[in-house]
Amino acid sequence: MSKLFETTQLNGMTLKNRFVRAATAEGMATVDGESTPRLVNLMTGLADGGVGLIITGHTYVTKRGQATPWQLGIYDDKLITGLRAMTDAVHEKDGRIVVQLAHSGMLANPKLTNDAPLGPSAMEGLNGVIAQEMTIGDIQKTVEAFGAAAARARAAGFDGVELHAAHSYLLSQFLSPAFNQRTDAYGGTIENRAKIVLEVVQAIRKRVGEDFPVLIKMNGQDFLEGGLELEDAVQAGSMLKEAGIDAIEVSGGTFASGDLMPSRKDIIKESDEAYFKTEARAFKERITIPIIVVGGIRSFPVAEGLVNDHVADYISLCRPLIREPGLINRWRSGDLRKATCVSDSKCFRPALAGKGVYCVVEKRSGA
Ligand SMILES: Cc1cc2nc3c(=O)[nH]c(=O)nc-3n(C[C@H](O)[C@H](O)[C@H](O)COP(=O)(O)O)c2cc1C
Repeated sequence: MSKLFETTQLNGMTLKNRFVRAATAEGMATVDGESTPRLVNLMTGLADGGVGLIITGHTYVTKRGQATPWQLGIYDDKLITGLRAMTDAVHEKDGRIVVQLAHSGMLANPKLTNDAPLGPSAMEGLNGVIAQEMTIGDIQKTVEAFGAAAARARAAGFDGVELHAAHSYLLSQFLSPAFNQRTDAYGGTIENRAKIVLEVVQAIRKRVGEDFPVLIKMNGQDFLEGGLELEDAVQAGSMLKEAGIDAIEVSGGTFASGDLMPSRKDIIKESDEAYFKTEARAFKERITIPIIVVGGIRSFPVAEGLVNDHVADYISLCRPLIREPGLINRWRSGDLRKATCVSDSKCFRPALAGKGVYCVVEKRSGA
C-alpha cells in the first residue's frame, strides 16, 4: 500500500491518509461570519471524498481582523452552534476537521471592520490602506483573541486548530522584515519577529491544554525584497516546535510576490508541481515534527515522491479539491490520473464575490 494511505496520529488525532485539504476561503458564511448549511455541505462533500484532514478557510478571531466579505468567523461564542453543525457533519462521515485561525492585520478590509487596519508597522498594506502600528496593548489583546478562538474551536468540536501565519496576514506580517519595521521587542531579529506567534501558541495551549492538535501554516520564504527568508523561517519553525506546535504546513509567497504568490499558475509539467518543496525539505531536515507541504501538487506520483523522499509527511491540496472533492477516493480506487484542476486560480473570484467558491472552468464547460 502507498505510504499516502497509511493511518497516522497527530497529537492524538487519527488521520486515515496523508492528504490534507488546504485552507480555502469559501466565501459562504453569513455577513456576521456564521456558518451556513451550504458551507456544511461543502465540508461533508470533502469528508465523503476521502481527504484525511480538512482545514477550513481562514476564520477571523476578532472583527478587526476580517479580510473578506462572507468570511467565516470565530470571534464570538455565538458562532459556536453553527460551527458545531459543521464538525458534527464531518465526524458523521468519519472525517477530521481543523479550523484555521487568522487575523488579516494590515490586509483587513476597513469597509467591513469600520476601523483602520492594524499591523506591526504603520505602512501601506497591500490593499493600499495605511495600517495603524499596533501598541503593546493591541498585541496582547490579539494574542488573547487567538487563545479565546482556540477555546471556541474546541467547544465547537474541531479536531484541532491551524494558525494562519503565512501569505502576509497578521502573524506573517510580524515574521516578515518587509512588513515589520518595529524597533521594540516584537521587531528586529527573528526571535523578536516570532515573539507574537510564540505568545499566541502559549495563549492557545493555556486555553486548550496539551492534548489538542495545534498546527501552523507559515511561509518558507516571502519571495519579496526584504521579506522573510528560508533560514529565518526554519529558525522560527524550530522555536514554534519548542513552544508546542504539533505540525507545520510549509507555504510561501505573499499577495505582492508577483508570479511567486501562494497559489501559482501554469502548473503544466510534474516539475512545476510542489513549488515549495525546497522550503519543505529544509523544514523537514531540521525540525522533528510532522511537515505538511502545500503548493501546486497535482499528480499522485509527485505526492508519493514527496513523502517517500522525506520532503514532507503530509500533502496539502487546495485548488484540486475545489474542482474534485472526491479526488482522494479516486486515487485510492486506483484511478491515478492527475487532478483535473488547471491552476488558473479563477476560483478566487466567486469566493470573493459572495457566490461561494467553485471551479469556474468546470462550470463553464458544463462538466
Ligand atoms: C480560493 C482560494 C482560497 C484560499 N484561501 C486560503 C485561506 O483561507 N487560508 C490559507 O492559508 N490559504 C488559502 N489559500 C491558499 C491555499 O490554501 C494554498 O496554499 C494554495 O492555493 C496552493 O495550493 P494549491 O496549488 O493546491 O491550490 C486559498 C487559495 C484559493 C485558491
